[in-house]
Amino acid sequence: MPNTEIPKLEDYSPRSLDHFFLSIKASYDKEEAQCGGIPEKIEELRIRWVGRKQGHLKSIVETCLKTAPAEVKSALGVRFNQLKVHIDQALAMASSDATILSTGYTTVRAASRTADSIDITLPGIRPGLGVEHPLVRTMNEIVGIFQRMGYSVGVGPEVETDYYNFEALNFPPDHPARDTQDTLVVAKQEHKSLRDRLLLRTHTSPVQIRTMERQPPPIRIVIPGKVHRNDAADATHSPIFHQVEGLCVDENITFSDLKGTLDHAMKELFGSSVKTRFFPSFFPFTEPSADVQISCIFCGGKGCRKCKHSGWIELLGCGMVDPVVFDSVRGKQPGYDPKKISGFAFGMGVDRIAMMKYGISDIGLLYSGDMRFLEQFA
Ligand code: DAH
Repeated sequence: MPNTEIPKLEDYSPRSLDHFFLSIKASYDKEEAQCGGIPEKIEELRIRWVGRKQGHLKSIVETCLKTAPAEVKSALGVRFNQLKVHIDQALAMASSDATILSTGYTTVRAASRTADSIDITLPGIRPGLGVEHPLVRTMNEIVGIFQRMGYSVGVGPEVETDYYNFEALNFPPDHPARDTQDTLVVAKQEHKSLRDRLLLRTHTSPVQIRTMERQPPPIRIVIPGKVHRNDAADATHSPIFHQVEGLCVDENITFSDLKGTLDHAMKELFGSSVKTRFFPSFFPFTEPSADVQISCIFCGGKGCRKCKHSGWIELLGCGMVDPVVFDSVRGKQPGYDPKKISGFAFGMGVDRIAMMKYGISDIGLLYSGDMRFLEQFA
């Protein structure tokens, strides 16, 4: 029978303590290996090491731990516990291996060798089925409506340059229209010219420019995406939100096409009894511009708290593409000649539409990741 001698602890330096416990651990591992998985030998090993009266662990407690000066007791105790955990776990493994060996079932032996290995015999954890987030669902629904009218789908970068987000869309530097979109800018851009400075896009409209630069007319495209503004969060504002942008350019596109398209889209989205009306508005990149209102989906237009007793809810911005916007892409795509083509554009907030459709009163819920909220959409 192997006879492990517990070495002498020379001093209490961390190095000496490590050495002391490592060599004891090595002795245990060696003895265990010598048992060859034979149940009787492992039982002897167990008594020799963790036996209550004369086990090695007991004698380490008696000869080393109890006699050590108070200030090193904690350092000793930590290392002793690590050794004990190692030996306990190894013994548990060795004796279950021994049982498996003696009954002849050797196949799971390898899998149960180490403490952190996977027990393939345990039942699994069934992952819940995922569903679309209400925002994604709403965005897909809006995009789907336009796809069925022949629109393609595009995307663009969330980190944009000042040029695409503002200048090409006819927001000149220092123009007050920029104030309507409080912008989050990327730091340390001052060395660049204003047009190249990076910012988080405040709307999806820059993708209109990117799309026209890449492809000649005719265009029919919708662009869903995330946008950012430096707005304080409250029940109806979030510094992150979502928009779906639309752009249609061809010969002879008129304001009637815009009205017909958006009226149809709103009826698809909210039901065929919904009415639309167009109010004059201003956006630098459209002329004329309009705000689209729909008859209140909560009261049917009679007037209620939700529509501030007006019977109407303002939902999106739109207009005929301003010729100066076409001018900013003509260098790359000469086909955008305002004498030959015309177009309309629109942009809508997805979050607000999702909140109306699903009766969500706080926009923050859409970004909280709270399962109690999200599970309601499963
Ligand atoms: N980009 C505008 C905003 O975020 C919304 C918008 C208005 C987009 C009119 C358009 C448009 O394409 O024609 O406030």
